[in-house]
Amino acid sequence: MIKRGAKPRISLLISSPRSNASLALGLECAFIIKGISFFSVSYSTMLWKTNRAVWRAWRSWKSSPHSSTACASSGPGPLDRSEELSSVLTPKPPHTPVMLKEVLHYLDVQPGQVVLDLTFGGGGHTKALLNMVHDVTVLALDRDPAAISLARQLAKEHSGRVKPLLGRFSELEALLSSMNIKPGSIDAVLLDAGCSSMQMDQAQRGFALSKDGPLDMRMDGDRYPDMPCAADVVNTLDQQALASILTAYGEERHARKIASAIVEARRVNPITQTQQLASVVAGSFPAAVVHARKDRLQRPAHVATKTFQALRIFVNDELNELHAGLRAARSALTPGGRLCVITFHSLEDRLVKRFLQGEDLSNLDHFSPRKQGKRDLVEGKRDVGSVDWLPLRRKVIIPKRDDVKDNPRGRSAKLRAVLRR
Ligand SMILES: C[S@@+](CC[C@H](N)C(=O)[O-])C[C@H]1O[C@@H](n2cnc3c(N)ncnc32)[C@H](O)[C@@H]1O
Repeated sequence: MIKRGAKPRISLLISSPRSNASLALGLECAFIIKGISFFSVSYSTMLWKTNRAVWRAWRSWKSSPHSSTACASSGPGPLDRSEELSSVLTPKPPHTPVMLKEVLHYLDVQPGQVVLDLTFGGGGHTKALLNMVHDVTVLALDRDPAAISLARQLAKEHSGRVKPLLGRFSELEALLSSMNIKPGSIDAVLLDAGCSSMQMDQAQRGFALSKDGPLDMRMDGDRYPDMPCAADVVNTLDQQALASILTAYGEERHARKIASAIVEARRVNPITQTQQLASVVAGSFPAAVVHARKDRLQRPAHVATKTFQALRIFVNDELNELHAGLRAARSALTPGGRLCVITFHSLEDRLVKRFLQGEDLSNLDHFSPRKQGKRDLVEGKRDVGSVDWLPLRRKVIIPKRDDVKDNPRGRSAKLRAVLRR
């Protein structure tokens, strides 16, 4: 059974720009509301209506006697350390860092400097920095307790040079101030968005459609017992809310068809396993098209890939978090400090690009991301940065062909490198 206690969420909400709206709707549903509020305000007024539907569905489910999640007790919380320990003990790195050489080049860290790794993950980028730069200190943040266990291990090996911080981007300001670290005092920041291989490869975490496990997807593990997991979302929300999530976060053209298949299937049995969801989605398409989609390397991709992406983004509130991470980086960096951001899909990259161009992302109701792309083309707009940022390279950086061969998971990565003015 899930334990209920929403305390940690309160501080998160208060730090959110839309906290009042969320609070007005009630703390219980705040995660859901926050989850799509970025899109509702920024990208589509249609979704604001969905917010209310999502909220109603969520509240009625929470007050029902059956409101236990499929994954809350089975997720790899702080107590389940077996897989995490095995990844510390194996010689294979738990996550291959993406565009490592490029990140080291653009961060250009000097001896004695302080670096903030906002996404420690398996520690690949941090370890390379520690090995390359004498006397560097790395503040290593991650929302995943398993990643922070690795950071603690690394901190023991490099005494005083690694400071593990367990928390989300949106909690960073409070974490830094509790350590007496002043805004404007960090020399370099790295944000390597998305999931780590440690998360993707462990069936128990429920991120991967290729491995059967509980439909979980919470990057925080069991840190917030009140946080809905992916199974909660697919078994609770109404068809329209599900379709909106698939459209907004998966850019899934067949969102309505898939949402309808999910609602039909859960009438018979709750959807609690990753492969159960994958087959429900596959079942709504003719057999011939299940692997007919192609990824960016033209390799066959399962028809449920976008559904999984959408649920993961929604469950972890990833776009609001990314926006919070970029704002935290802006406030933490010293003038002349450097920021590298790696993204893995177009929703993330568009958000980063526009933030670095100085757009106010809290007030974008007047145009859609696609229209903005066209506007850039029509006006031949060059990426010249903003009052806050100077691009270190005008064009976005993508992985080299050989790097993609060695690490296919990094194939869709895009790196943006900027200097804080
Ligand atoms: C792609 S991995 C980073 C890999 C790392 N650079 C390496 O070389 O091993 C992304 C990590 O960021 C963490 N993460 C994602 N969103 C976060 C957030 N909002 N706050 C804190 N950590 C986050 C995930 O838990 C994951 O461990």
